[in-house]
Amino acid sequence: MTNRTTTQTGTPVASDAHSLSAGADGATVLHDRYLVEKLAQFNRERIPERIVHAKGGGAFGRFEVTADVSRYTRAALFQPGASVETLLRFSSVAGEQGSPDTWRDVRGFSLKFYTPEGNYDLVGNNTPVFFIRDGIKFPDFIHSQKRLPGSGLRDADMQWDFWTLSPESAHQVTYLMGDRGLPRSWREMQGYGSHTYQWINAEGERFWVKYHFRSRQGDLHLDAQTAEAIAGADADYYRRDLHEAIERGDFPKWDVFVQVMPYEEAKSYRFNPFDLTKVWPHADYPLIEVGTLTLDRNPQNFFAEIEQAAFSPANTVPGIGISPDKMLMARVFSYPDAQRYRVGTNYNQLPVNAPHAASVANYSQDGAQRHHYNAPSVPVYAPNSFGGPTASAEAAGEGSWEGDGELVRTAYTLRADDSDFGQAGALYRDVYSAESKLRLQATLLGQAQAITIDEIRERFFQYWTNVDVELGGVLRSAYATAAEDGAAA
Ligand code: HEM
Repeated sequence: MTNRTTTQTGTPVASDAHSLSAGADGATVLHDRYLVEKLAQFNRERIPERIVHAKGGGAFGRFEVTADVSRYTRAALFQPGASVETLLRFSSVAGEQGSPDTWRDVRGFSLKFYTPEGNYDLVGNNTPVFFIRDGIKFPDFIHSQKRLPGSGLRDADMQWDFWTLSPESAHQVTYLMGDRGLPRSWREMQGYGSHTYQWINAEGERFWVKYHFRSRQGDLHLDAQTAEAIAGADADYYRRDLHEAIERGDFPKWDVFVQVMPYEEAKSYRFNPFDLTKVWPHADYPLIEVGTLTLDRNPQNFFAEIEQAAFSPANTVPGIGISPDKMLMARVFSYPDAQRYRVGTNYNQLPVNAPHAASVANYSQDGAQRHHYNAPSVPVYAPNSFGGPTASAEAAGEGSWEGDGELVRTAYTLRADDSDFGQAGALYRDVYSAESKLRLQATLLGQAQAITIDEIRERFFQYWTNVDVELGGVLRSAYATAAEDGAAA
């Protein structure tokens, strides 16, 4: 059989070079069905880009358990000896599809584990915290980071207006404006689940956990000038780096750890352990080894396997649950909703999103682009008396916690050590090296100069003074000196 070009329905086509026309020099005709199909198909090649994290890349690999954490979770993927296929997608947050990889930003770290109990997704970042602590603020936060509706330009005034009016952002902004904002590559950065999740063991005992992925390639960064030069020269710098490393057999690897907090301890811990703007000190909750994650296979088709990939914090497996983190609960709704719109109703039937090591059995039917369906003998409703699939709480292994009853709209209850600026200040003073501090100061001076509204700049100085009094002072005087120099020049 020759390798013939055909229409989408398999009929051989006459030409890929010449439309059907009335004579060599005449009009083309509408009944050239292949011309019409080819142009129409082409017009539909794009799907909406992700509303956030639009620019990214990824690869397949394997997660392998190296330690015994079975006393904390019954999840099959974390049992001793387990090895499961994974997909990891890296991304920038604010930039659009074509934006340069090396613009300063937080980087996404989205993992899909194809486990025998269904797909488990861990959709995290290269930072352990986030800018806000209630999902109702997310659209406002993202609007402030993207573009002005009038000019279509990004705008330092609106970014800093939002951040300085949302002091809970300070910890994450200290990461973003520091070295983590400019990783040297996706391979050379850490990953975090960021939220607190629940693990449930075979006896039904519950634990709170935070995930850490430590890069064996190191936690490295670019300096601002190099990042800017690369942004101009090679917008796809990180995507290229990952692809080429895997092609040459240099497989990136992460060591996977968790911090574990006993269930009851969360109730009296000195700050709210579900607040996404906080880390848990390692002195209180040390890292516990779990396994390794290795990327060893590039996608065969970027669109089908990366662009159409749909990760969601709602995708948990028995032995893993969410937690009373208001951000996480909002995300459980938001991602599948975005994906039904972005990819289509039956997005989970695409090969990249369907389970690879488990099977699907439920009563969902129909909808646009349905590919898989139940045999006609399977009943279409539950309960039924014809042997259709049955649900079971024990099999689901879901997490749980005590609820409080009264419905209110209010911030989390404050505990003794809850503060917006405390951990941001500790990050600056105790974790950043002297050189990192200088780079952060230089970046922040540039930000102060980009702000055009005096009131917002004043709040900016106050914000950094709240993070660290000395840092606030350094920024104020560096800004004043630069302004004087500018006026004198
Ligand atoms: C992508 C919403 C917070 C990490 C997305 C998408 C939405 C979204 C709608 C696009 C999904 C798609 O089209 O496939 C939200 C909301 C949040 C939130 C409403 C807060 C309530 C976070 C946090 C993190 C995060 C806290 C990290 C800890 C990511 C990543 C992606 C993403 C990595 C890209 C997923 C991929 O690679 O396909 N987010 N997000 N988001 N989000 Fe969030």
